[in-house]
Amino acid sequence: MHILHVIGARPNFVKAAPVLHAIRTRPGMRQTLVHTGQHYDKNLSDVFFSQLDIPAPDENLGVGSGSHARQTADILTAFEPVLLARKPDIVLVYGDVNSTIAAALVCAKLLVPVAHVEAGLRSFDRTMPEEVNRVVTDRLADILFTPSEDGDDNLTREGVSPERIHRVGNVMIDSLVRLLPAARRCGTNNLPDRFALVTLHRPSNVDDGDTLKSILESLLAVSKQLDVVFPVHPRTRARIAQFGIATDQLHLLEPVPYIEFLAMQSRATAVITDSGGIQEETTFLRVPCLTLRSNTERPITVTMGTNTLVGQDKKKLASELSAILEGRGKKGNVPPLWDGHAGERIADVLQRFEPARYSLV
Ligand code: UD1
Repeated sequence: MHILHVIGARPNFVKAAPVLHAIRTRPGMRQTLVHTGQHYDKNLSDVFFSQLDIPAPDENLGVGSGSHARQTADILTAFEPVLLARKPDIVLVYGDVNSTIAAALVCAKLLVPVAHVEAGLRSFDRTMPEEVNRVVTDRLADILFTPSEDGDDNLTREGVSPERIHRVGNVMIDSLVRLLPAARRCGTNNLPDRFALVTLHRPSNVDDGDTLKSILESLLAVSKQLDVVFPVHPRTRARIAQFGIATDQLHLLEPVPYIEFLAMQSRATAVITDSGGIQEETTFLRVPCLTLRSNTERPITVTMGTNTLVGQDKKKLASELSAILEGRGKKGNVPPLWDGHAGERIADVLQRFEPARYSLV
């Protein structure tokens, strides 16, 4: 069985690594890795490949940045000939980025079966580009690997037949479990004893000047109570420069490699973020997380884990942070199947998969 993986952006690398490792040891399976090039900076891509022990991609489509239409179209055009040449039995796509939806669409048109890893998540907020990517990718996918029960429920409600849904758990947590020992060993001497770790990159938070300014002001208020450590995504750095916002009082860093970031998360007093994956990682690490969004596609991190949605409400951010500093932060529990073995369960399902009798490649 020939499995082709398509990955393109930083969170994809963390999700694909455990699946690549699990399949590597299975007899009768071979795999091809395609990097779309959506993320191309060394500190968003290469360093993740080396730390997560991902082999060099067999193909790099080199699409780079662009508008949604441009980036998606470039992936469609560049991936089609690769699919025709490589002739896999099944393609695996990950998460909710533009690389995910584009690769799934190429496969659907060429009748190549697609499996979606991290299927079924819904924020029910179509203003998020990722929500559109999730909904469309799940419509196109033949096999849907979900991380938690809410994913199964969403897909069932949308009419997906149950035999296509496989609840395998959370692949992002597989990578965390594997590399947490390395993170614990990693020197973080330059970190304060107590600090808030911040990440920020959602278009809805950073692409509008007034919104971004207001969020950075609330982070400045946080920094009066607690040191703020803030690795800045390139999208956000570009917007800070474009809007001419002064940030000298915040401790801004370059994007941090995976293991170092895990070390920071595990030692943080609180994490303040708008990322999806970080809501899950903090739940596993039992570190309180304040999410700068009014909704989440990962509700289990709120109902069961350590996550609290604060939106863009400065008062709520301040009061939740005070609660954490007074030792009243959420402790939470780790959801079922977030155990480090999701990649193995995906490989089990793929081993039973019957290749399509009819495909156009
Ligand atoms: C993308 C995903 C988002 C994910 C995030 C993780 C989509 C729609 N968005 O957002 O879901 O949470 O990745 O990081 O797929 N840039 C660089 N270097 C790079 C890549 C990008 O400087 O290697 C800059 C460029 O200015 C680019 C901007 O970042 O225009 C945005 O990159 P893009 O891939 O379009 O989206 P992200 O914001 O990274």
